[in-house]
Amino acid sequence: MVAATSTMSLTRQLGIEVPLICGAMYPCSNPELVAAVSAAGAIGVVQPLSMIYVHGHDYREGLRLIRRLTDKPIGMNVLIEGSSKFYLDRMRRWVDVALEEGVRFFVTSLGNPRWVVDRVASSGGVVYHDVTERKWAEKGLAGGVHGLIAVNDRAGGHAGPRCAAELYEELADLGVPLVCAGGIGEEADFVAALRMGYAGAQLGTRFIATDECRAHLDYKQAIVAATEQDIVLTERVTGVPLAVIRTPFVERIGTKAGPIARWLLRGRKTKHWMRTVYALRSAWQLKRASLAGGAGEKTSKDYWQAGKSVEGIRAIEPAGEIVRRFAAAAS
Ligand SMILES: Cc1cc2nc3c(=O)[nH]c(=O)nc-3n(C[C@H](O)[C@H](O)[C@H](O)COP(=O)(O)O)c2cc1C
Repeated sequence: MVAATSTMSLTRQLGIEVPLICGAMYPCSNPELVAAVSAAGAIGVVQPLSMIYVHGHDYREGLRLIRRLTDKPIGMNVLIEGSSKFYLDRMRRWVDVALEEGVRFFVTSLGNPRWVVDRVASSGGVVYHDVTERKWAEKGLAGGVHGLIAVNDRAGGHAGPRCAAELYEELADLGVPLVCAGGIGEEADFVAALRMGYAGAQLGTRFIATDECRAHLDYKQAIVAATEQDIVLTERVTGVPLAVIRTPFVERIGTKAGPIARWLLRGRKTKHWMRTVYALRSAWQLKRASLAGGAGEKTSKDYWQAGKSVEGIRAIEPAGEIVRRFAAAAS
């Protein structure tokens, strides 16, 4: 069976028991969460900016903290943002530190992953690339990646345009393991993705509502309380559609970028500059929102990111329990 074969190749490539990834989340990935998911037999992915800027760890020390909590494999998210040389240099250094600290799984997003594939090759590193449609998948594969994370229209973070089934059909013949990202909140969703043919699943929102995630209790409770109708896509945070909970603030301000911002985002010369402005502003906004709570209040100007998987999330739980429950359902 195709699905069983690809599931095995995913777990074998990554050295894990459960074909489940706790996706990188700015600002919600903290070392304790990554460690808890990996310790339970799945794999947690480190988000470097979240580790340093939100949770206050030196990057190498944060990786060592995870190592003290578990010796199981972990991953690292490499955002390939071509518009800033400073940022790219820093990302290259973080990849080197991760390799030195024993990380062998890398999840690339945006841009050409070739330099990551080349840099990790001599250590036996495995690179999976986030994609939302076939043209990005083909570019990623041309860059040498070993697997694809298929981000669908129900995902938290930056959702894609296709539903999980359409995306599977579009990518199935590419010959690498496909991981379903988006909309998986409970075991039945996970089993459905595996039945569709996916080799595994990447979850974000589900793992925010856990004991180990350091996000504010208000945020976790808002995820538990939300239904999928409460999730909307807004352009106002990063300039491209981002899945957030529809709070009183979101209702008041709307989800479209203002006319000047939109014009600057379209301009050939201004779009990189405008994206940098958005990236810096949203980094600060999202950090505050996740740690301080209160975004559900009428007076708040904060955003809570979450995907439509909120529909299946009914309690704040230990991350390891979630992994074990999902593993049992899949077997
Ligand atoms: C709060 C939040 C932050 C995220 N930040 C990132 C990120 O920094 N890098 C990334 O590649 N994906 C990011 N994602 C996407 C997740 O890694 C994952 O693909 C997605 O959450 C899957 O959809 P789900 O939330 O429905 O499970 C984020 C998702 C959420 C919910």
